[in-house]
Amino acid sequence: MIDLHCHILPEVDDGSKDMQESIAMARKAVEVGITHLFATPHHLNERYVNMKDDIIDCVFYLNKCLQQENIPLTVHPGQELRIHREIFVSLEKGEVLTLDNNGKYLMLELPSGHVPTYTQELIYELLLKGITPIIVHPERNKELIENHNLLFKLVQEGALSQLTSGSIIGLFGKNVKSFSKKIIEHNLAHFIATDAHNLASRGFFLQEAYESITKSFGLNRTFYFKENAELLIRGQSPSIEKPVSIKKKLLGIF
Ligand SMILES: [Fe+2]
Repeated sequence: MIDLHCHILPEVDDGSKDMQESIAMARKAVEVGITHLFATPHHLNERYVNMKDDIIDCVFYLNKCLQQENIPLTVHPGQELRIHREIFVSLEKGEVLTLDNNGKYLMLELPSGHVPTYTQELIYELLLKGITPIIVHPERNKELIENHNLLFKLVQEGALSQLTSGSIIGLFGKNVKSFSKKIIEHNLAHFIATDAHNLASRGFFLQEAYESITKSFGLNRTFYFKENAELLIRGQSPSIEKPVSIKKKLLGIF
């Protein structure tokens, strides 16, 4: 399996504390069936700054250590970028890291409490530059939970979204779990990833999430998510199903 979102890099954010923990996380990832993962440290989330070049160096060093330890896991460079008005300045300065540094997909984090008013415009501008934003864990954003149709608007505009495995199996509470399922049901999710931070409270749970998805939506839906992750890691375009408005469906119009 492939994990697109993980805080495995040592000493860079609120994920792995040191190389020993990173190695332990890598062993666990392999044990649960993950072969490739993107290291996506926080950037500009009001606490952490992790510039593109520093992440690339750190990923190179971690991969070297994994090889020395004979751990069959490949770490790819990524970044969890907090949305901000100056994204295009950061891009020009070379601080922003797209997945695998290929200029195509960007893991974009919204603040947990709201969706900034400029979000739609920023998504539009990123798409114009050929960068597709992947909104990470929309199911945990307070405003998106309250206004279901807002995520539909962002996806309809061209953004993709990634749900967290723990959300799907209820680790963030009932509301987040039920919103996650609604998001999947309405074709508003394109990827499942772990957002693992450690092995204690924020682990992987990817297999458990896929089992839950298979149970609720059938095996085809699980294949859809797994295949999209594979396409992304190969630098190809993921498949996108036509988004359905949650509000309209609830009203029974469609
Ligand atoms: Fe994260």
